[in-house]
Amino acid sequence: MLDVLVVEDQPAVREVISEIVSDLDRSIHVHAAGSISEARQELAARRWDGLITDMSLGDGNMLDLIEELGAKGQRIPPAILMSGFLSADRMAKALSLGIVHVMAKPFEPAMLQNCLRKMLFPDAAGQAVAAPASGRQLQSEHRLLPEMFEMDRRLGLVYRMFEEMPGKGNVASICGNALAIALDVVHSRLGFLALYERQRDRLVLVAEQDLGNAVLVESCQVAETPFRTLVDGVDEVLVGQDGMQSCWPGVKCHSHISIPVMLQGVPMGVLCMLDPGLRGEPKSETRQMLGLLIKKLDTMLDNRAVHAALAENMRDTLVALVRSLEARDRYTKDHSGRVGRLGAILAEGLGLDSDHVELIRTGGTLHDIGKVGIPDAVLLKPGRYTEQEFAIMKAHPAIGDSILKHMDTLVRERLMVRHHHERWDGLGYPDQLAGEDIPLDARIICVADAVDAMTTHRVYRMAQPVSFCAEQLRLGAGTQFDPAIVEAALKAIKQGAVISQAEGEQLAEPVKPLSAEISIQTEARH
Ligand SMILES: [Fe+2]
Repeated sequence: MLDVLVVEDQPAVREVISEIVSDLDRSIHVHAAGSISEARQELAARRWDGLITDMSLGDGNMLDLIEELGAKGQRIPPAILMSGFLSADRMAKALSLGIVHVMAKPFEPAMLQNCLRKMLFPDAAGQAVAAPASGRQLQSEHRLLPEMFEMDRRLGLVYRMFEEMPGKGNVASICGNALAIALDVVHSRLGFLALYERQRDRLVLVAEQDLGNAVLVESCQVAETPFRTLVDGVDEVLVGQDGMQSCWPGVKCHSHISIPVMLQGVPMGVLCMLDPGLRGEPKSETRQMLGLLIKKLDTMLDNRAVHAALAENMRDTLVALVRSLEARDRYTKDHSGRVGRLGAILAEGLGLDSDHVELIRTGGTLHDIGKVGIPDAVLLKPGRYTEQEFAIMKAHPAIGDSILKHMDTLVRERLMVRHHHERWDGLGYPDQLAGEDIPLDARIICVADAVDAMTTHRVYRMAQPVSFCAEQLRLGAGTQFDPAIVEAALKAIKQGAVISQAEGEQLAEPVKPLSAEISIQTEARH
C-alpha cells in the first residue's frame, strides 16, 4: 500500500485531487489535510510515500513548513507542489527544497497523474503515458477541475490582497504589490502603475513589471497616453484591443486593460495591464476583483506619501536640469553636486539632524537652478562682467525661486535657492537680508558655494589652494559669512573634507588665468 497525503485548503478541489490520485492505482491510499497545521500533524504521524500539496493555504505557506521540517531533520516525502502563483523566487525555493514536480494551476488531471506515476513508480517511467493502472476512465467531474482551479485562484487573489500586501512600506513597494496582483487577475505578465500629478498634468511611473530592457521614461504628459478619460474620472476601465497601440512612450502592446488608481475617491493614477490573457471587456467578476484591489490600494496609500513620491520625482527632474545646465560649462561641472555634499558636511558639523542634513544636500544641489534663465553669452563668458552682465547674473536666485514657487513640496529648498547670495552684513542680494534674518540653510549653502568656487578651476582663474580658501573664510567671517558656519567650514577643511583642484586632480587641458586678480567675490563670478 502506498500512502499519499493531499494538502489543499479548498474542500472541492481537495476532493477532486484525492479522487484523481486514487484513480491512478489501486495500491494508493489517499489521506487529506486542509490546513498547514493538519499537514504538520500528518507529516509527523507516519512515513509517507508521496505528498501532493497546494502552496498557499489559509494558515500559511507549505514551502515554509517543508523548509522548517527539513531544517529539523524530519524526512519529507517526494512531493508535487501545485500553485496558481508561481514566481521565479518561489520556483527556486521549491527546487532547493527538493520538490520533485511543480505544477502551475490550472492543469489537466492527466498531467497530475503522469507526474504522480513518475514519482511513485519510477521504474515504470517509460510507460508514463499508459492508461491508468486502475483501468478506469477519469470520472466526469474531473473535468470540472480547471474551473475549480479558477475559483480557487480568485479566492487566492483576494487572500493576497488582504494578507500579502504590506501594511506599511513606501509608495513604490505598495504599488508594485498591487500591480502584481492586478496582473494575475487578468492573466497578464506585463504592466505598470503610474501616479498622476494633476498640477503638471503628468503621469509618473512608480511600478512596472517585465516591461523588458527598454529604458522607460519616468514621466510623461497624459496626452502622450490613452488615459485621459481615466484620470479625468470619466471611465472606470479602459480596454484597448485588436491592434498595436502605445500605452506609454516606447511601450507598445496588442491590447490592454487599464483602470484608474484612486486616492480618497479621486483618480490619482493609472494601472495598466498589457496583453492580458482575458480577451475583450472584462467580465463583472474581473471588474469586481480589480475594484476591490483599487479600494484596498486607496486605503493603503497615504496622501502625504503619494505627495512625497511625486515630489521625489520632481526633485530628480530638477536635479537632472541642473546637471544639464552645468554640462554647458565644463568649469562648473558638478559644482552643485559638490556644494550639496559640502553643505551636508557643514550641516552635520553644526549638529543638525539627518533629515535636515539631507534637505541641505538637496538645496545645495538645486541652489543655482535659476541659472537656467541666464543666457549663455553671460553665463559662459570668460573674464570679468560688465555692470549690465552682472545685473543679469544677479537675477539667478530670484529666477530659481520662481521656478520652485509652483512646487509646494520644495518650500525649504526654495529658501536656499533664493537667499544663497545674501551676505551676513546685509550687502548681498536679492533681498539684502542680514545676520540671522537670512535662513540658516541659505547661510550654510553660501559658505559651501564660496568654498567650492575658490577651490575649483574657473574659466577666469585657476583653483586656489585650501590654505588660501581657509584664509579668505576667516577674512569674510562676520562680513560676508556667518562666523559660526565659517567655524564649521574651517573644521571640515582641517579634517580633509575639502580638496582643491589646485592640489588634487588637474583638468585635462590646463586653464590659464585670464586675470591676475583673484576674487572671492563669488557673487561676482562663479
Ligand atoms: Fe549662485
